[in-house]
Amino acid sequence: MSVTIRPLHPVFVGEVAGIDCRHPLSPDEIAAIEAGMDRYAVLVFRDQHITDDEQLVFTRHFGELEAYRTPGHIRRREAQRLGPGMADFSNLDKDGNIIAADDRVWFFKLADRLWHSDSSFGPVPAKYSLLSARILPSWGGNTDFADMRAAYDALDRRTKAEVEHLVCLHSLIYSRAAIGFAELSDEEMAAFRPVRQRLVRTHPVSGRKSLFLSAHAGEIEGWTVPESRMFMRDLSEHATQRDFVYSHEWRPGDLVMWDNRQTMHRASRFDDRREIRDMRRTTLAGDRPTIEQAA
Ligand SMILES: [Fe+2]
Repeated sequence: MSVTIRPLHPVFVGEVAGIDCRHPLSPDEIAAIEAGMDRYAVLVFRDQHITDDEQLVFTRHFGELEAYRTPGHIRRREAQRLGPGMADFSNLDKDGNIIAADDRVWFFKLADRLWHSDSSFGPVPAKYSLLSARILPSWGGNTDFADMRAAYDALDRRTKAEVEHLVCLHSLIYSRAAIGFAELSDEEMAAFRPVRQRLVRTHPVSGRKSLFLSAHAGEIEGWTVPESRMFMRDLSEHATQRDFVYSHEWRPGDLVMWDNRQTMHRASRFDDRREIRDMRRTTLAGDRPTIEQAA
């Protein structure tokens, strides 16, 4: 069976048919999926009821796993529910109970409802993320994606020139502060030290430029904080206008793979006090700091 990809949105996002994510892929299948990622930036695989091990094997077809970076006691408390390489994006604690509303682990997770690019707070941000739906709530809990290439293309000429060489500082401190969660330990503050990221990235294969925005971005280098925040907010609102956004309504067995270099995403609300949403992510490491890219 050959791989086919059908567009789900006018500017990005494809649905893949002809792939069974539970089995090893052939070189042709890997190439078809990679080409699909270069073109669509987000790919949806339906009816993939996979285990954690199968998700890890599938992910490794496309590169090296990213080392999960959340430090300190956040990691110690959270990581136990799932094994190495699997990031837990559920509302469950390590014993399988719904996390208390006032638990700081939950505050960390809540900020994923802001538009962001995965691990843009790391020195080498993530390449692809793969999220699989294991248990879904009866209402809500979509994941929204925004095409940051389309956002870049639609900038006016003056703004394109303005953003071309800008460098932003990204940190988990900024994205958590954005929802009013600022009580971080010294260990966390040290681990979340801001990193420098280019605001304009060029895709290594397609050559398309994109805006590298994220809730983790808190300052533009050389600018005042208020000027930085206002400009990044303007750019984010531009980038997440309806024409550039796809909202994924999850079905059981969905696996969605996205390119963090070309998209932003956010989770959306569900009844997180009463219902379980068990989503599991594997992440592929980027290959170099964005700052090394020639603009
Ligand atoms: Fe994310």
